[in-house]
Amino acid sequence: MAAVDAGWTVIGIDNFAAKVTKINGGSSPVEDISDEQLQAAISKGAYKATTDFSAVTKASVITICVPTPLNEKREPDLTFLSSAARGIAPHVSNETLIVSESTSYPGTLRDIIIPIVDELKSEGSKNVYFACAPERVNPGDTVWNQKNTPRLVGAIDEVSQIRALAFYESICDAVVAVSAPEVAEAAKLLENTFRLVNIALINEFTQLCSTSGINVHEVIDAAASKPYGFMPFRPGVGVGGHCIPVDPLYLTWWARQNGGRAEFVESADSISHMMPKYVAQRAIDLVSSSIVNPKVLILGVAYKPGVGDVRETPVSELRDHLLSLGANVAWHDPLVPTWESSKSVDLDWQCDVAILAVKQPGMNFEQLMVRGVEILDCTNTMKGCAGVTPL
Ligand SMILES: NC(=O)c1ccc[n+]([C@@H]2O[C@H](COP(=O)([O-])OP(=O)(O)OC[C@H]3O[C@@H](n4cnc5c(N)ncnc54)[C@H](O)[C@@H]3O)[C@@H](O)[C@H]2O)c1
Repeated sequence: MAAVDAGWTVIGIDNFAAKVTKINGGSSPVEDISDEQLQAAISKGAYKATTDFSAVTKASVITICVPTPLNEKREPDLTFLSSAARGIAPHVSNETLIVSESTSYPGTLRDIIIPIVDELKSEGSKNVYFACAPERVNPGDTVWNQKNTPRLVGAIDEVSQIRALAFYESICDAVVAVSAPEVAEAAKLLENTFRLVNIALINEFTQLCSTSGINVHEVIDAAASKPYGFMPFRPGVGVGGHCIPVDPLYLTWWARQNGGRAEFVESADSISHMMPKYVAQRAIDLVSSSIVNPKVLILGVAYKPGVGDVRETPVSELRDHLLSLGANVAWHDPLVPTWESSKSVDLDWQCDVAILAVKQPGMNFEQLMVRGVEILDCTNTMKGCAGVTPL
């Protein structure tokens, strides 16, 4: 949509046919893009979706933005990326720019994508240009978007860089040129690893403060009064989404491939995964020990407020720990109707304790408070309310 707004004609290729049909029907699958915006782009002929990779032939710029998840060994899974490169390669026209926007470890463009395209492109497509411009979008963010977030661009040679800069300058307010795609790839991993380690630090710090009866939020506010050298991060159930818990493991894997170890990052990852267990125990401790199988209501299961996305949500581990402690667990999330084969319950579900994991817009706790239900607040949004215990 940012490219459409800048005057480009855009074709979206996706191998998930149902999504393509939905998009072409004017229904947006992306929270930050309204149906009206999508419909306007479609009706003026500036956008359409297709499953047909031959549409690539018409493109002067191709951006690859497929998922880069972890496999069952929690290592980079580049299956989608390789398959997208194989899908577009035979249809790439001469003088086309290919940009990888997917998050991955340094060397992905040069060592994975380019060899696939070079092998499968047609003989006539002699000049194909390559760059990397990692996606930085923050879903649900009403301030920072594609246009006003500076874009990193690193290309494999001068002509590729000139073309990539021209493209991103047309859709973004600011573009930051770096010397190579590997720098852009590494910068993206650094950005998200920075968030992981700082969130892990504050989650560890929260546990230390709680043991000593100190309110961690007051400590964070106090530290944040220093005008330089400190940035506040807040505790929670853990990290979620398909970026913060995932991308740092691309970094740890890449370090191992190069004979090193990212010990600090590995440690942050394990602290993150311990947090849901800690939260589960804190909630159970709020229930009278005479109740053998306490009923626990989790409020919010999405990975962050304002979205219905449950990918890698730490609430999954929270629920598993609660179950292993003998609890009966139900959950409520106005933005997530179904999750892992179960449905969101109403707030009148009778529980012994509630855990506010994610504060979603439209959540109304009035009836829980009227019933005197104890709430463990992991979000610091119910400060000072009766019956509420901060994390
Ligand atoms: N969404 C974000 O907030 C965000 C932010 C920063 C970076 N990223 C990065 O951007 C990349 C994409 O993330 P996303 O959240 O948009 O992913 P997504 O899960 O929304 O997937 C994008 C689409 O790719 C399609 N797809 C998968 N394989 C394909 C193939 N071979 N050919 C064609 N289509 C294919 C899927 O069907 C899906 O519709 C990832 O590397 C992610 O780390 C995303």
